[in-house]
Amino acid sequence: MICSSINKAEKFRSIVRLVLQSFMFIILTSLISCSQTKDEKPVKVKSLKEAFEKDFYIGVALNGRIIDQSDSASLSLVKREFNSITAENIMKSSIIHPQRDSFNFELADKFVALGKNNGMHVHGHTLIWHSQLSPWFATIEDSFEFKDATEKHIKDLALHFKGVVDSWDVVNEALNEDGTLRNSIFLEKMGDEYLSLAFKWTSEVDPNAKLFYNDYNMTNPDKRQGAIRMIKKIQEKGIKVDGVGMQGHWHLDYPSLEEIEESILEYSKLGVQVAITELDISVLPNPWDLEGAEISQNFENSEEMNPYTKGLPDSIQTKLANRYKDIFKIFLKHRDKISRVTFWGVNDRQSWLNGFPIRGRTNYPLLFDRELKPKPAYYGIIGLKEKLDQLQTTN
Ligand code: G3I
Repeated sequence: MICSSINKAEKFRSIVRLVLQSFMFIILTSLISCSQTKDEKPVKVKSLKEAFEKDFYIGVALNGRIIDQSDSASLSLVKREFNSITAENIMKSSIIHPQRDSFNFELADKFVALGKNNGMHVHGHTLIWHSQLSPWFATIEDSFEFKDATEKHIKDLALHFKGVVDSWDVVNEALNEDGTLRNSIFLEKMGDEYLSLAFKWTSEVDPNAKLFYNDYNMTNPDKRQGAIRMIKKIQEKGIKVDGVGMQGHWHLDYPSLEEIEESILEYSKLGVQVAITELDISVLPNPWDLEGAEISQNFENSEEMNPYTKGLPDSIQTKLANRYKDIFKIFLKHRDKISRVTFWGVNDRQSWLNGFPIRGRTNYPLLFDRELKPKPAYYGIIGLKEKLDQLQTTN
């Protein structure tokens, strides 16, 4: 009798033990998997700029509210994490040169001072761009007058920022997707000579500034060939081009890693620096991927095109972190060819991708979330760099 009740108690205890053990196992494994997705925290470095200081500049595009210091939280993050800055909008011609005979340097001067006071590399964006172009350009009918005005625009800006803007996007987005030249007002009025002249005029005024050609979809093979042809043509005239800017408005699944790597290699064969100038990775569906889809009001606010309004699911967060890690693996492999990697915005809340190509969506393309907290992608790329450094020291 006594013996059987001892047996029963023992049985009960072992069942409880088993249940507790299974419970602990589930908690531990879920904690480990959480730490791999949500908290890929590195152990040593304090910032992005510190992590990549021996590799390339880590840059960021600043909007007006950061530059005029009204968004002080983002501003302190910028100072902590980045060592290169680009103005997202305020150095485009329509803002900085609104009338033919007057400039609006106020915010741009603040932007440059911010960079210089914090020991940052300062990049100027952009001298010649058909978009956000000051309307007065289009009022000039005579081609010679247009050429003179364009030369003056470039030279006045290059002179004003001489010695404080370290590098310029001299020409932005001059190519079509098939590699031919975009039919812009500059091509129309000046012929393709406008490209070499823009580089020549800038270097005449500020020979020390590094001069870039900058464009999107630079991994697309046809466009890449067009860019290479265009730059060779400028170089053959004895005019210097210091770098190619691959904007890097990329997606979770494309462009392929092979295309990214191939492009870095091809551009660097021109004897120029490669910069990744406007990096962000959209996690949202692209209307152009849907057969027959048009960017139209119909897609706005549709769940299909705007699926993560209440937060990014862990699975996509992990996909984004892995994509950033894969891309940074390539950047680090070719760090001798890459001068700068600049993110197009400080945090997800400010990204232009919330409004393009469909307005009013909730996108998550950057390394900092809407509350300015670092995302798994942030820890992912720093962790990757630390692992690579450890491997190098042990080998
Ligand atoms: O400042 C005005 C504001 O006064 C007005 O109330 C508001 C109403 O829409 O517009 C504001 O201007 C907007 C500006 O961003 C500043 O927020 C423009 O409408 C808007 O078109 C503009 O978009 C910029 C876009 O270039 C257009 O040029 C984006 O912020 C900027 O991220 C984007 O950046 C470009 C690069 O320069 C070149 N490569 C592609 C990249 C993404 O398009």
